[in-house]
Amino acid sequence: MSGAAHGGPSITGPETDALRERFARVAMRSAPSPMAALSHGRGARVWDVDGREYLDFLAGIAVNALGHAHPAVVEAISAQAQRLVHVSNYFTTPQAVAFAERLVRLTGVGETGRVYPANSGAEAIEAALKLARRTGRPRILAFEQGFHGRTMGALALTGKPALRTPFEPMVPGVEHLPTDPQQGVVLLCKHQSTYETFLMPAIMPRALAYVFKKELLSIPFFGWSIGSLDMIHIDRSQRAAAFNKVVQQGKRLMDQGVWVIMFPEGTRIPRGEKGKYRSGGTRLAIECGAPVIPIAVTSAKCWPRKAFIKKPGIVDISIGPAIPSVGRKPDELMREVEAWIEAEMVRLDPEAYPSGQPRLSRLKPGGD
Ligand SMILES: Cc1ncc(COP(=O)(O)O)c(C=O)c1O
Repeated sequence: MSGAAHGGPSITGPETDALRERFARVAMRSAPSPMAALSHGRGARVWDVDGREYLDFLAGIAVNALGHAHPAVVEAISAQAQRLVHVSNYFTTPQAVAFAERLVRLTGVGETGRVYPANSGAEAIEAALKLARRTGRPRILAFEQGFHGRTMGALALTGKPALRTPFEPMVPGVEHLPTDPQQGVVLLCKHQSTYETFLMPAIMPRALAYVFKKELLSIPFFGWSIGSLDMIHIDRSQRAAAFNKVVQQGKRLMDQGVWVIMFPEGTRIPRGEKGKYRSGGTRLAIECGAPVIPIAVTSAKCWPRKAFIKKPGIVDISIGPAIPSVGRKPDELMREVEAWIEAEMVRLDPEAYPSGQPRLSRLKPGGD
């Protein structure tokens, strides 16, 4: 038997082999063949059925935080087993309530915090999915290659095609962001405020490089702080050379796992308006073979262009699906990005769009 599907060793021995054969006759093949057959554990050590001792670095895939067979844990479980093992969700017990109270206290979620006990990671994910649905927002983001469990809802989030494909169709509404460090991405973001310039590096899973006009670097504080990030500076006085330089630097950075972010409208646009979406960002993506991800953000509600005083409130951010750029034309791909972002802006901030459509901004790109 091989344990290769685990990527781990396949340990053999007379008792181990016999058990593995019995396992294969009766256990459903929902997971790869077991790497070893374990008999018991103590602290950070486990023993297999052939009597070999191991240091347990896996710890039940990082869940046995208390090790194996700690006397206090054994005593607590034994004492409870002598009273009640299961009561269903029609009842509760003093122990269940004390457990929930303790979790609320330890996690610091405050008086409105509530506990939902689950038996497995997948059930916790299912609960999170249901909670997310209750917000009324239909989309869920997960990462390619991520593992979230094998129940139908959790599987929709799990980003491994080999696990998902046999069980399609999946629960709808989940989108997967790429995580391959070699996979470049061009983020194309709505621009209403300096807020998103600072926010995006904080919320994205990769380092970001901004494509910026050179002059911004000389603004006190702002220019100095963004100047220390990875940057692609455009010299607008030399347009053709500028684009070649953007592609060159963009490719180099994306090869290092850095994502490139651009504001296709070129400048901060007032709330309720849209700027002219230039197709440099989609051209760059196509040249580099990278997908584009549109992002809508309603920051002008709280921090509009050139306003020193900021208003408290909620900024909504919506991250769109990755759109492959291979075989696309820069202009038509940018139209798709623009349509997605602007429709999303209307959905997120309807007050700002009384006619249901953005007004065309009179601001010129670059006229910051
Ligand atoms: C990150 C992550 N989420 C969810 C799960 C699913 O947990 P369970 O196997 O308990 O259902 C796992 C399991 O390995 C996991 O690693």
